[in-house]
Amino acid sequence: MAVQRTLSIIKPDATRRNLTGAINQRFEEKGLRIVAQKRMWLTDEQAKQFYAVHAERPFYGELVDFMTSGPVVVQVLQGEDAVAKNREIMGATNPANADDGTIRKDFAESIEANSVHGSDSEDNAKIEVAFFFSETEIVG
Ligand code: CMP
Repeated sequence: MAVQRTLSIIKPDATRRNLTGAINQRFEEKGLRIVAQKRMWLTDEQAKQFYAVHAERPFYGELVDFMTSGPVVVQVLQGEDAVAKNREIMGATNPANADDGTIRKDFAESIEANSVHGSDSEDNAKIEVAFFFSETEIVG
C-alpha cells in the first residue's frame, strides 16, 4: 500500500447541520490526515464542471442544484490507501445500503443529500484534487 491523496467534499446537507467537525473526526480517527481544506459556495459553473461525468444522468440537474444550495467544505485527505479507505469511511452512495458506522449511514438524508463525496479512483482523485487546489495549498 502506498500513501495516496483523495478529494473529499462535505456537502450542503452536512454543513447546514453543522456536521463538519463530526465528519472530520471520522477521517482523523481512521488515520486520514486533512492536508488541505476550504469552505466555499460552489457556483453553478463549478458544480456542473465537477460533475460533468454525470451530465447525461437523469439526476444531473438536481445534483447541481443541491450542490449549489449551500456551502461545502472541499478537502484533501492523505494516508495509506486513502482513496479506498475514504470510500469505506463514507459508506455506500445510497445511505439505505450503507454499513453501520459509516458517515452516510449515520448522517446522510438521502441518495442525493448524502453528506460527503469522495474520489472513486486514484486517477480521478488527482483530477478532482487539482480541480480545487494548487500544489502549494496542500501541506502534507
Ligand atoms: P457523489 O459521490 O457526490 O457522486 C455523484 C452524486 O450523485 C452521488 O454522490 C449522489 O449524491 C448523487 N445522486 C443523486 N441521485 C443519484 C442516483 N439516483 N444514483 C447515483 N447518484 C445519485
